Amino acid sequence: MARILLVDDEPSILNVLSTLMKSEGHEPVAARSGEKAQEIFLSELFDLMISDIRMAAVDGLQLLKIAHRERPQMAVIMLTAYGSVETAVQAMKEGAFDYVTKPFKVDELLLTVQRALEFTRVRNENDDLRRQLDARYEFENIVAESPAMRRVCEIIGRVARTDTTVLVSGESGTGKELIAQAIHAHSARRGRKFLPINCAALPESLLESEMFGHVKGAFTGATATKEGLFEAASGGTIFLDEIGSMSASIQAKLLRVLQDRQVRKVGSNESTTVDVRVIAATNDRLEDMIENKSFREDLYYRLSVIPIEIAPLRKRREDIQPLVSHFIRSEIRDHSQLPTIDPIAEMALERYDWPGNVRELQNAVRHALAFANGGVIQLNDLPAKVISATSASRAGEATNNFDEMSGRSLRNFLRTKEREYLGQVLKNYDGDKEKAAKSLHISLATLYRKLAGEED
Ligand SMILES: Nc1ncnc2c1ncn2[C@@H]1O[C@H](COP(=O)(O)OP(=O)(O)OP(=O)(O)O)[C@@H](O)[C@H]1O
Ligand SMILES: [Mg+2]
Repeated sequence: MARILLVDDEPSILNVLSTLMKSEGHEPVAARSGEKAQEIFLSELFDLMISDIRMAAVDGLQLLKIAHRERPQMAVIMLTAYGSVETAVQAMKEGAFDYVTKPFKVDELLLTVQRALEFTRVRNENDDLRRQLDARYEFENIVAESPAMRRVCEIIGRVARTDTTVLVSGESGTGKELIAQAIHAHSARRGRKFLPINCAALPESLLESEMFGHVKGAFTGATATKEGLFEAASGGTIFLDEIGSMSASIQAKLLRVLQDRQVRKVGSNESTTVDVRVIAATNDRLEDMIENKSFREDLYYRLSVIPIEIAPLRKRREDIQPLVSHFIRSEIRDHSQLPTIDPIAEMALERYDWPGNVRELQNAVRHALAFANGGVIQLNDLPAKVISATSASRAGEATNNFDEMSGRSLRNFLRTKEREYLGQVLKNYDGDKEKAAKSLHISLATLYRKLAGEED
């Protein structure tokens, strides 16, 4: 069954078409003018529109243009007077699926309708599929080059469409809040609020009233009733950051909210139902905290329905370069004036261990941009920590290398560097050669060959 909009200024034709469509099991809606039809398809959804071309005021071609622009999913079949092939061809150019000449043969019309519906069904399915695929990897502001981050994006794409509670864990600066925002932004809740609250930043009593609200007179200073974040985020998402620092009593209250979807203001006996999605984040190891009884196990299981773990940046070095370009692009407005990076500086960025993860890298890029002049970022423009860490660990090696290097062929040098790099990548993947080969965009056989030091 399809919803079909019929447009003609002749009532008799509308009647015939209506009866025909109903007899085929469809649901027709009739419009006696182009204006009326436009009004209807802008407020309701149809699978197909069958429209006469020649009508007063808004004629069929104009209507087609609007429909094509505003309702691209709706197929359009035009009815043309016998002999006006030129207009019909124009209609096809404007995006009509097909045309049928009047007076029409019933069989021909029904066949065209069937084909148009089949066509749009397949096309719309394809669009859906493509959107799903895009959503898997494409989050506007998330750089995800490494397999680890790609997997994270895949999970985001899947959980965004649900309402389940998500627990994001990862070291400081790995992008936990960014991930939480992306989940919200791709969920049906995106039109509502995303409210973050840092559980470590507030003393217990204040955190409780921030989260759940309080009634007037609940405590000294509560001069008026105040709505908590759970109520304020109604219909949206609440982001509970640093969940590991929550006190036992607040943990108990949060558990109740997650179980019954009910919040009770501090000092009140009444509960209110709330519709809020919860995303929590932690850089503590909650499993250890459960072990030593500082985090409730039952709350942990409620929160971690979908766990997302973000690896530290040093474990996904493929993300470093793309992140650097991403941050340069977001710092510099004029993209025709983007600076380049000297290879030595680039190597330093790739080798540093980034204990502060992506946030530290972002700051390093800002630092470098402030110091660089002449449109090239040099090693010396990087923060001292990055320079000294690389030079400390590599200084000896670098000079040795330099001695070694003199007199060596470029080919020889490159091979040594290549093996060094392969070793690093392998280490990143805990020795998994298949994964390493994939990330290097080479075949497993090539990797084995290179590791064995065979000639190319
Ligand atoms: N994959 C990424 N792509 C682009 N930007 C990123 C990525 N990961 C992190 N960032 C950026 O790095 C900065 C730190 O990220 P965020 O604040 O989300 O980290 P966090 O894990 O919440 O840190 P903390 O534990 O310190 O609260 C932000 O500016 C964020 O936009
Ligand atoms: Mg954070």
